[in-house]
Amino acid sequence: MQNFSVKEARQESAIGVAATVSGWIRTRRDSKGGFSFLEVNDGSCLGNLQVVAPAELTNYESEVRHLTAGCSVRVVGQIVASGGAGQATELRAEAITIYGGADPETYPLQKKRHTLEKLREWAHLRPRTNAIGAVMRVRNRVCRSIHDFFQEDGFLYIQTPIITASDCEGAGEMFRVTTLDADKPARTPAGEVDFAQDFFGKRTHLTVSGQLEGEVYASALGKIYTFGPTFRAENSHTSRHLAEFWMVEPEAAFYELPDNIDLAQAFLKRIVGDVLRDCQEDLALFTERIDADLMPRLEKLVADDFVRLPYTEAITRLTDSGESFEYPVTWGSDLQAEHERFLTEKQFGAPVVLYDYPASIKPFYMYVNEPDTAGRLTVRAMDVLVPGVGEIIGGSQREHRLEVLERRMAEQSLDPAEYWWYTDLRRYGSVPHSGFGLGLERMVQYVTGMANIRDVIPFPRTPLSAEF
Ligand code: 4AD
Ligand code: MG
Repeated sequence: MQNFSVKEARQESAIGVAATVSGWIRTRRDSKGGFSFLEVNDGSCLGNLQVVAPAELTNYESEVRHLTAGCSVRVVGQIVASGGAGQATELRAEAITIYGGADPETYPLQKKRHTLEKLREWAHLRPRTNAIGAVMRVRNRVCRSIHDFFQEDGFLYIQTPIITASDCEGAGEMFRVTTLDADKPARTPAGEVDFAQDFFGKRTHLTVSGQLEGEVYASALGKIYTFGPTFRAENSHTSRHLAEFWMVEPEAAFYELPDNIDLAQAFLKRIVGDVLRDCQEDLALFTERIDADLMPRLEKLVADDFVRLPYTEAITRLTDSGESFEYPVTWGSDLQAEHERFLTEKQFGAPVVLYDYPASIKPFYMYVNEPDTAGRLTVRAMDVLVPGVGEIIGGSQREHRLEVLERRMAEQSLDPAEYWWYTDLRRYGSVPHSGFGLGLERMVQYVTGMANIRDVIPFPRTPLSAEF
């Protein structure tokens, strides 16, 4: 007797095997011939396993005929060829054990399809639905590709800290880390008792990016990547922002901006290619329910080179487009979602890499270019924009010249004492280097077509929605 997942039991090669399969009932149908069909799912794949439960089972009348959606079972039987449509096999039950019931009066996931908004209220039960199950299998596949891609290319996986004193992005969107010390109540300037203490006397935050620490390791080990939870206390209520998300950040010594763009393109192609090959069943569900154009969009990303466009040219294209944008753009403005959408969806119908952004809208650490012919200052930033999602990657070549870095820090009123270790990297054996960050959830949105970022992470953290 072998333990099989539903996925394994659905393979034609399993026919003839005596197997035990465990899972949750999706539906039960009783036939007039004195037996029942049970659809069982265990999350291993989208498809259910059809279990044929004969009336001869000792608990057929007492239990099997009362099974409803959500009940958990263990079925022992023979895997046989199935005459049913959409399935190669079925399991002929010889014994069924019921682990747990699910009262149909109160179990929320009835046969009716719920909206994704409604399912967010049941964060603890929604993984049992087809849509969220499919998203999480694809998310898992994406994570595996991320590691495979970098590991095969010689990048070392480095864990950067979650508690940190530096604000990499300079946007001030940080969660402060404090300790509770009831013995030493501090007073706020208003005189209220505040039990929260700075972490060991130093002001620290949850990381907004592992980049600066990643640069430390790239400056010694060459090619590294970090992959971990990242926090932004931005009060955005959009379908693309979370307060807690996962970011993958490669950092490579001796890489200049074009190398960085090449890396980002190869990386995205690898992830999408792996998902296309290994997640066909789940992608078919997204195509049917969420986005009919999903497959051609993904296939195009793998097949074609990305468009590469300097920021200055993007601004010209936007202003020449004749579109009436809610936020008009001029040289120096940050691009809004509507502009990203115009470039990726209307203008090119493809992923677009924008680079060489105005220095004034980018953080201190980006490599400063020579002023352009109009005397304007740009930095070697790059954003990868994709149709449907917009910005999926943000990165840059880093400033490795000490004097320029110090000047930029002064311009942005950053205290050099706080960044002494970062400037040391430029003092001792400084090299050109580059890196970028990919938001995992935006990547999963892209490959599934899911419109809302809250539906591609197991437990979304957004303002007003951290249920548990
Ligand atoms: O563009 P960002 O802010 O870049 C950085 O943090 C760099 N330090 C990364 C680097 O160069 N190592 O963020 C990178 C990506 C974005 O393109 C987006 O995909 C994702 O992280 N991201 C978010 N995803 C979900 N919710 C948010 N609030 C996000 N903020 C950024
Ligand atoms: Mg960005």
